[in-house]
Amino acid sequence: MRFDIVTIFPQFFEGFLSHGIVRRARQRSQVQVSVHDLRDFTYDRHHVVDDRPFGGSDGMVLKPEPIFRAVEALTHPFQYTPLGEDRQAAEQAPVSVIVLTPQGKPFTQAEAARLSQKEQIVLICGRYEGIDERVAQNVATDELSIGDYVLSGGEVAAMVVSDAIIRLLPETLGSATSAVNESFSAGRLDYPVYTRPACYRGLEVPKELMTGHHAEIDLWRRRKALEKTKAYRPDLLRDTAALDALDQKILKTIEAEAEDRH
Ligand code: ADE
Repeated sequence: MRFDIVTIFPQFFEGFLSHGIVRRARQRSQVQVSVHDLRDFTYDRHHVVDDRPFGGSDGMVLKPEPIFRAVEALTHPFQYTPLGEDRQAAEQAPVSVIVLTPQGKPFTQAEAARLSQKEQIVLICGRYEGIDERVAQNVATDELSIGDYVLSGGEVAAMVVSDAIIRLLPETLGSATSAVNESFSAGRLDYPVYTRPACYRGLEVPKELMTGHHAEIDLWRRRKALEKTKAYRPDLLRDTAALDALDQKILKTIEAEAEDRH
């Protein structure tokens, strides 16, 4: 898989690319990541990438020309369909051109899994007050937001999206089962974990984890995972069909116990 990141701050990505799983995946050639300076796609002497918004308002807007040129230079034509033309075709093409913006579709684990099947992903990082809308409609296949908050630019979001995808590529994680067992693939948050020492400053590790009894440990973990999900992310439990039969049963027990306490 190949990533092309288009940004006005290429150096932002140096630390991200040279550590951990992303570094390892690059070294093993599981992924190629190239970072491109948007200013390299300008023709004027001052390498201007932004301008004032039509209709007036605060701030500056990223101009369409350098972004159109960057995407044209980085992708083979006809391997993707822009969002403005056909949303379904855009999702299925081997190339994705993603604009990162707080106005985008929420980025989720399911979205990361879908994108991990692509041959190439171009990530366009916004800055200032936004990106000329002709980019989203005519060269992008996706507009993604990483959450309901406004960052100072799309660079951090591009790292979030590419990290979540890269760790799903085959053989990227240490253990093939890690990605399957974790939060969100099971429709709930993950269970809490502990390591040595078994007692630290008088704080004991839960005794259920110390029994060596696998069925009991599994039950305890499921229960804690569901309690946490209920407390922090009740929205995930609105559709319990995503849970397996045992989780559904444990959840009913948790709810019945809460009723009894009232
Ligand atoms: N750029 C600024 N804020 C963002 C967000 N929440 N998600 C994606 N890109 C962004």
